[in-house]
Amino acid sequence: MAAKIISGTEVAKAIREELKVEVAELTAKHGIVPGLVTILVGEDPASQSYVAAKNKSAHALGIHSEQVTLDVGTSEADLLALVNKYNNDPKINGILVQLPLPKHINEANVLYAIDPDKDVDGFHPVNVGKMVLGEQCFLPCTPHGILELLTRSGVETSGAEVVVVGRSNIVGKPIANLMLQKRPAGNATVTLCHTRTKDMAAHCRRADILIAAVGVPKMITADMVKEGVAVIDVGVNRIGMSASGKAILAGDVDFETVKEKASCITPVPGGVGPMTITMLMKNTVQAAKMAAKLI
Ligand code: GUN
Repeated sequence: MAAKIISGTEVAKAIREELKVEVAELTAKHGIVPGLVTILVGEDPASQSYVAAKNKSAHALGIHSEQVTLDVGTSEADLLALVNKYNNDPKINGILVQLPLPKHINEANVLYAIDPDKDVDGFHPVNVGKMVLGEQCFLPCTPHGILELLTRSGVETSGAEVVVVGRSNIVGKPIANLMLQKRPAGNATVTLCHTRTKDMAAHCRRADILIAAVGVPKMITADMVKEGVAVIDVGVNRIGMSASGKAILAGDVDFETVKEKASCITPVPGGVGPMTITMLMKNTVQAAKMAAKLI
């Protein structure tokens, strides 16, 4: 079977079109312009390009966006003071502090200082706790994007065997949790595999839906999946450089061989990646509606 390719680029575009209409309506009917601030500490080129992409996307949707870049030597106290300033700024509905932070700054101290009502990354323990309890909250952007990809591609999760590979706080743990929630795009039976899992391949072969988020290029091979599996590949691994100096990317899944067995599969690039920023925009609009008591 040759797999259907799930295009995150296309799904993300459709969601951005919906958001554009929603933002225009919020502005026209209620005078609300959702606002996002991104805070970057240091000059890491990958982080710089992610932050630039977030601000560009916000701008294209009519979301007010502010971009703050701080010197790599900025103290934790100064960063906390800045977060606090934006916690109290009514123009700003969403605060995103780009990770990783320099070593001398305690990441948890900073993330926990963000007002949970402005935590559009969904990393604050209040939002993580609400997510686990199945309450209304900000969902972390990559898992949120995976839910949208599955739903909009017609992949049935209810009763499915979902195997998640990777237990990060940003992807593995939250997506495993969301998949088992009692609601649409949930109701799955979930297995979470990690570095200490015995016989990873045996677990993967049981999956109706396989979600790989490990950061090891092409780790999931065709012999590890069953015929007809739906594959979501979260990995973005740089495996080389093209002649023109562009990074060559590979997912965590060996796309060429696995696609011959899967019913559907996300490519890298163009799969989960484009969804993450779009879900940040969706969360920012949600934050603005919450602040205005519209939801
Ligand atoms: N660095 C890599 N991914 C992310 C993300 O989703 N949010 C933030 N804040 N930083 C990141």
